[in-house]
Amino acid sequence: MINETNALGTVAENWNTLAVLHQIDYQRRGKTAYEQECVREANRRAVPAHRAAQRAFMGGASEVQIAAAYLAGCDCRENEMPYGIIAGVNEHAAVLHHHNLFKQPQTPRSFLIDAGVEVYGYASDITRTYAYDPGCDFAAMIEAMDRTQLALCAEGGIGKSPVDIHVLSQHKIAEVLIEFDVLQLSAEEAVAKDIAGSFYPHGLGHHLGCNVHDKGSQLANAQGAILPRSEKYPKLRSGAKMVANQIHTVEPGLYFIPVLLDKLKSGKHAKAINWSRIDEFVPYGGIRIEDNIVVHANGVLENLTRDAFQRIN
Ligand code: GLY
Ligand code: MN
Ligand code: MN
Repeated sequence: MINETNALGTVAENWNTLAVLHQIDYQRRGKTAYEQECVREANRRAVPAHRAAQRAFMGGASEVQIAAAYLAGCDCRENEMPYGIIAGVNEHAAVLHHHNLFKQPQTPRSFLIDAGVEVYGYASDITRTYAYDPGCDFAAMIEAMDRTQLALCAEGGIGKSPVDIHVLSQHKIAEVLIEFDVLQLSAEEAVAKDIAGSFYPHGLGHHLGCNVHDKGSQLANAQGAILPRSEKYPKLRSGAKMVANQIHTVEPGLYFIPVLLDKLKSGKHAKAINWSRIDEFVPYGGIRIEDNIVVHANGVLENLTRDAFQRIN
């Protein structure tokens, strides 16, 4: 514990001096080939588990049963997970960290799973969303989000600002909402008036490594100077420009969250929203699609997650 003196009379903070920690956190933004391989393998091991969870959902399983299918699919115990399995059926897909998994099966409409695997201490962090009925509008919205997510993955690169890509992602989510007749104003207005943010209230992604939310994402230098926060999006985890060999998640979301919708409804922009369309989508909860990307030193963007899904499809 910081400042606590141990039996030898040594002050703990002197063992982990900030000067050293800042150096480590700054250097660890770029991952070695070994570290990249650990995260690659963590993606490969997670994908069969994601498929097992999808099958369980389609079979009408409860959230707890789906999580059990995930664990069986990667042959892991729950305490080996890099983070608690998020498995939300129907409206629960709108709960950003839905850990209170239900034991009762629901009549299936939609399903969001955010779960990874750990390999030698390195994590994967993967989200997929499914519709039970492939012909419903929500299934079409998932496809639109999938195209959007892939377009955003392609925006990564050395020297790119994650904040700029986040702003772009807010526009792209607004475009999806307009395409599906949820919003009735331009994407520019939806972002400027902060309407899009009510449907997408989190950041586009974060550093990934041996912490699921890996360190160094706000450091301006190895001495520990912190970058200024985005004024419009001060809570973003990633502020520092991308560097070679970094691993990022790319995880845009689009949710129908009752408490945020209630605020919109009583606010001054309520008329820009098609509330009958909202009523149709609320029972499906929401959509997030999350991949893990390596920004290679030669400029190549490697999508560890899509590659891993392709290997077993
Ligand atoms: N699984 C946590 C996250 O996506 O940040
Ligand atoms: Mn993530
Ligand atoms: Mn995740």
